[in-house]
Amino acid sequence: MGRLNGKVAIVTGAGRVGNIGVAVARAFLREGARAVIATDMRAEEGYDIRALVAGDGHAGVFRLVEHDVTSEADWARIVSDTVAEFDGLDVLVNNAGIAVHGGILQTSLEDLRKAMAVNHDALFLGIKACAAALGQAHTRFAGGGVVINNLSMASYMMNATNIGYHVSKAAGRMLTTCAALELGPQKIRVNSVHPGVTMTPLIREGLEAYVAAGMWESTDAAEAALAAMNPLGRASQPEDTAHAFVYLASEEAQFVTGASLYHDGGIGLRY
Ligand SMILES: NC(=O)c1ccc[n+]([C@@H]2O[C@H](COP(=O)([O-])OP(=O)(O)OC[C@H]3O[C@@H](n4cnc5c(N)ncnc54)[C@H](O)[C@@H]3O)[C@@H](O)[C@H]2O)c1
Repeated sequence: MGRLNGKVAIVTGAGRVGNIGVAVARAFLREGARAVIATDMRAEEGYDIRALVAGDGHAGVFRLVEHDVTSEADWARIVSDTVAEFDGLDVLVNNAGIAVHGGILQTSLEDLRKAMAVNHDALFLGIKACAAALGQAHTRFAGGGVVINNLSMASYMMNATNIGYHVSKAAGRMLTTCAALELGPQKIRVNSVHPGVTMTPLIREGLEAYVAAGMWESTDAAEAALAAMNPLGRASQPEDTAHAFVYLASEEAQFVTGASLYHDGGIGLRY
């Protein structure tokens, strides 16, 4: 018996091999999800992902769909297609995100707005578009509908070099708690996961930017330094991080809403 048996989930930002969204989609299917609709701007690059998922040998349906999370029209299409095909929606994972590097003096208003659009506004659009369908999930599952926002340790840790990322992720935290309060009566739980350093393409690109800025000699040195800052002495892998999403999406978490699940290996304890 899987922990997500019969559930239908949308997972955004799940179109890039090696990223958290793909790990979450695979974990959901392994736990018995009836269908996972993985969405991404990069869906056209996702042929490897279809093969990966098919190789897992689960019984659920996997779809990989082109979707810009900043587009309200795209959200309307994804939700209506999902409900039409699967007769309901139980879980929304707002996972797509972008990194913006630089302090206030180096960050343009345009880049700040890009970060806000993907890391915050898209969560708002997703919740708005899915709320009616998620509000019906309680007729199938006692734990009701589920929204999980993938935020970051950046939402509670200060860093003067990534202002757009930190500010947009912190805004996502307030959105999560407000949505939990508003949607609780409709039996929709809204929680956030806050990963620490997780070794994905996003992080590797970030480390390359730090190396280019002269903060570290190489990406290997940067990775080792980040691991050493962590009480557990290592970075997370996407598959580790996916466990947090399985828990919050499952019936085990049916009394959990408005929570921030720190999945940072304890690094936040230093702040
Ligand atoms: N990797 C980490 O260490 C880490 C730590 C904390 C939080 N996070 C968060 O986890 C999430 C996933 O990050 P990841 O490390 O897997 O990064 P990633 O870059 O590998 O994945 C992010 C995905 O989002 C997609 N995306 C970006 N803009 C989009 C848009 N407008 N519409 C649709 N899709 C879009 C990208 O194509 C990409 O596939 C992000 O929200 C990130 O901020 C990551």
